[in-house]
Amino acid sequence: MTVLESQMLERAAIHDGQLEFVSEGGMGKALDDGLFRLAVPAELDLKSGIRFAQEFWTEPTGTSIDSYRGFRARPDMYFDRENFQTEHVLADRWARKNTFPSEVAALAEDMNALALVVLRATLQRIGIDPSLWSTVTGGAVEDQGTHWFASNHYRPEREQLGCAPHKDTGFVTVLYIEHTGLEAAVENDWVPIEPTPGEFLVNFGGSLELLTERLPTPVRAVLHRVRHTAPAPGAEHRFSFAAFINPPPSGDLYRMHAAGDAQPVQSVEEFLRDFNAKTWNDRHADFGIATGGGGIARRETGGGSHD
Ligand SMILES: [Fe+2]
Repeated sequence: MTVLESQMLERAAIHDGQLEFVSEGGMGKALDDGLFRLAVPAELDLKSGIRFAQEFWTEPTGTSIDSYRGFRARPDMYFDRENFQTEHVLADRWARKNTFPSEVAALAEDMNALALVVLRATLQRIGIDPSLWSTVTGGAVEDQGTHWFASNHYRPEREQLGCAPHKDTGFVTVLYIEHTGLEAAVENDWVPIEPTPGEFLVNFGGSLELLTERLPTPVRAVLHRVRHTAPAPGAEHRFSFAAFINPPPSGDLYRMHAAGDAQPVQSVEEFLRDFNAKTWNDRHADFGIATGGGGIARRETGGGSHD
C-alpha cells in the first residue's frame, strides 16, 4: 500500500451470506490495505446504535427513556479514557443481554454476524485449512471467542487526541462512523478515512495479522487513530460504534507457517496486557483480562479498539 485515500478503499457487500467485492481483485487489495467499506444491509436499522452512542454518557432523567442513559455509572463496562477525548461502553454478549436496550443488543448481534461472514471469507481466501479455523481463532469463527460491541463518544470539551493510535486486537472489526476524524497510518503520514453514507468500515486486527504474517497472503492490521475533533458549539458530538470478533482471553494467538501448520505464539492475556499498557496508559491496564467484580463475573477478552 503506497497511497491509501479514502475514495480508493475497496467496497463490498454481503449477498446471501457471501462477501462480494465490487471490483475484481478487491479482496486482495482490501487484505493488503487492512480495511475496506462494507454496505450496510438494507434490513439493518442503525437508529438504536446511533441513539445509544448519543445518550449512553448522559445522565438518567428518571423516565422510561433511561434504558439508553446513565452508563457512566457502570464501571464494569464504562471506560473514561482519561488521556483522550473518547469515552466508551464496551460490552460482551453477556453484558449486552443484561444491560443494553434490547434493540441495541440485537443490532450488536447483527453487526457481529457481518463480521463473522468477513472472517470466514478471509480465512478461506488466505487458504487456511478449514479444519484449523476453530483452533487458530480460539473458536471465534464458530461464534465463540469474544464478541465485543463498543459505543464511543468524543468529548468536545477535551483538548486531547480523540483516540490513541492502535491496531485493533482481534480478527475483524465492523465500525460505523458518521463524522470525520478517523485516520490511518500510511508510511509516515496519517491519512483521513472519511465516512461514506450507507457503509460500514471493516478493518482487520492484530490477531489476524499475526496469524497470517508468514503466509503468501498476509493480512494487514492497519494502525489508526482519531484526531482531535471539535464540533461547533451546539453541533452534534462525534460518535461511533463497532462490533469486534476477538479470541478468548484464556487462549493463545497462533501463527501459520503454511496452510496446514499452525503454531501458538503468545497467550491472548499477555498480548492484551501489552496492548492496554502501550495504547491507553491509564488505570485499565488489566481491562478484559481480570475477572470483573459485582454482577459482571465473567469479563472475557478485551484490548478493545475504539474509533
Ligand atoms: Fe480501532
